[in-house]
Amino acid sequence: MKKAALAGTIVLAALALLCSLAGGQEDMVSVDNSVFASPRRPPAVFRHEEHNENAGLDDCSRCHHLYDEKGNKLEDESSEDQSCSECHGTSDENGRPSLRKAFHLNCKGCHLELKQGPVTCGSCHRWNTGQEQQKS
Ligand code: HEC
Ligand code: HEC
Ligand code: HEC
Ligand code: HEC
Repeated sequence: MKKAALAGTIVLAALALLCSLAGGQEDMVSVDNSVFASPRRPPAVFRHEEHNENAGLDDCSRCHHLYDEKGNKLEDESSEDQSCSECHGTSDENGRPSLRKAFHLNCKGCHLELKQGPVTCGSCHRWNTGQEQQKS
């Protein structure tokens, strides 16, 4: 009896683990644009894990940054537990670019700097993103 119960527990635990792993693989394919009141473009393509692996970005704070009150970047800390929109609003504020600018400076800025990655509107805001999402 005891053994059967233990086996049952193990099976349940394994199932729970499988589910959580499957959930984790359902990765971000575009940047959520629902924080913009009335988005004019389709959400920008951004396969988080794949993008960062291909671009060799292992420093989370390159995008998920934190600054002190004086505006100095905190090198050893990151803010991946927060959305960009928690700090960047609808307009520029105290040296903080508006949310739209923040994304463009971050994404396009790096692509221009490295001469790699898309820089034209339609190459990030792809009208077929929805179809791509359904395919994968
Ligand atoms: C390197 C990728 C990239 C490029 C190039 C780019 N954008 Fe964006 N843009 C983003 C991201 C990321 C956001 C954040 C929300 C989202 O996913 O749409 C955004 C947000 C926006 C928004 C606010 C949300 C909306 O849909 O109203 C507008 C407007 C916009 N971009 C227009 C443009 C235009 C116009 C161009 C070309 C001049 C352009 N973008 C080029 C990545 C890009
Ligand atoms: C090239 C820029 C970039 C890098 C590098 C990056 N991220 Fe992100 N990450 C983003 C963007 C953009 C979002 C979406 C933020 C938003 O919608 O406000 C995001 C969202 C997230 C989220 C929440 C959303 C989700 O469902 O996944 C987590 C967690 C996260 N990143 C973790 C990390 C960790 C950990 C690292 C370092 C190993 C990292 N990120 C590196 C750009 C980046
Ligand atoms: C905890 C708050 C916070 C979060 C979360 C945050 N930022 Fe920022 N960001 C700031 C502050 C503060 C500044 C202004 C720093 C200064 O004074 O120079 C800034 C500046 C910027 C700048 C201009 C300076 C630069 O680094 O080029 C960009 C671009 C930017 N943020 C993009 C993003 C993006 C994209 C995300 C989400 C992935 C994000 N930020 C998340 C607080 C935040
Ligand atoms: C620190 C540099 C850096 C930042 C920040 C960055 N990228 Fe990139 N991105 C790259 C590099 C490098 C490549 C080319 C990598 C390769 O060879 O596949 C790339 C490629 C891409 C591609 C083409 C690959 C694909 O999946 O279709 C897209 C789309 C893209 N980036 C979107 C974004 C968006 C959206 C953001 C902002 C949320 C962003 N990137 C931020 C460096 C960056």
